[in-house]
Amino acid sequence: MIAADLSGKVAVVTGGASGIGLATVERLARNGAKVAINDLGGNPRLEQEVARLRAAGHDAKAFPGDVSKPDEVIAMIEAATRHFGRLDFLVNNAATPGTKAPIPPSDFERQDEAFWTKLISINQVGPYRCLKAAAPHLRAAKGAVVNVASTSGLGYGGSSSVYASTKAALILLTKEWAHALGPDVRVNAIAPNVVDGSGWECRFDPDDLARHVAKLPLRRAGKPEDYAEVIFYLLAGAGYITGQTIVVDGGGAR
Ligand SMILES: NC(=O)c1ccc[n+]([C@@H]2O[C@H](COP(=O)([O-])OP(=O)(O)OC[C@H]3O[C@@H](n4cnc5c(N)ncnc54)[C@H](O)[C@@H]3O)[C@@H](O)[C@H]2O)c1
Repeated sequence: MIAADLSGKVAVVTGGASGIGLATVERLARNGAKVAINDLGGNPRLEQEVARLRAAGHDAKAFPGDVSKPDEVIAMIEAATRHFGRLDFLVNNAATPGTKAPIPPSDFERQDEAFWTKLISINQVGPYRCLKAAAPHLRAAKGAVVNVASTSGLGYGGSSSVYASTKAALILLTKEWAHALGPDVRVNAIAPNVVDGSGWECRFDPDDLARHVAKLPLRRAGKPEDYAEVIFYLLAGAGYITGQTIVVDGGGAR
């Protein structure tokens, strides 16, 4: 397991109360960073996880807010930077599939205006809102950003075509934002595939998943910690990498 001394560094992780976000919070905190954990105000796990982390001796605090609400994002980033005094790392992890079961491409008419609007606002504009509010602080700290995209954004298929398009946009924006914020701030992304053990709302058919996993060179679904490890590397190391999306998919099914 890679490690770094992040004492004195401060991170904001959106959607940090569960899954990949929470594993990233844990990894950053265990390496000495102070962590502002964002998630939806109505999610009881937010305060529960913060209490658990604080009891373990970590400097973590909850900053609730919905990344689809511009005012809440500004208030959340400002409160976090005021509380901790600086901001070095932003992890744009919050997202939604907007559906409890996958919508196949053939069912394209089911993806109505409301579905498009919701997913674009949370998954695509949400990271932009957070980046915009955080940019002055990240520039001052010469910090780094990681966007959590998805292999669906690279055409592997996923919970819906709309979801995949928001992740494709995030992969493209990662390159744009690397140019926008360089040389002070590096901006990268990871593209996860199957996640074993997150709270992801969209449930795939277990037999389909098992068939998919059997075709992976590494023969297992990724755990939140597998993804957090790569996010951690892109934040704490990777000094000459920016604008890139690292595919983290166990080698890809064939
Ligand atoms: N689970 C998968 O199969 C999968 C695959 C590829 C990529 N991803 C991506 O990984 C990331 C994390 O997903 P996960 O599997 O850990 O899921 P998760 O559901 O465990 O975690 C997502 C968290 O984001 C929060 N969230 C949702 N909408 C929000 C909003 N508007 N504002 C603030 N917080 C919000 C949720 O409450 C939840 O705690 C997401 O970006 C997702 O798109 C997931």
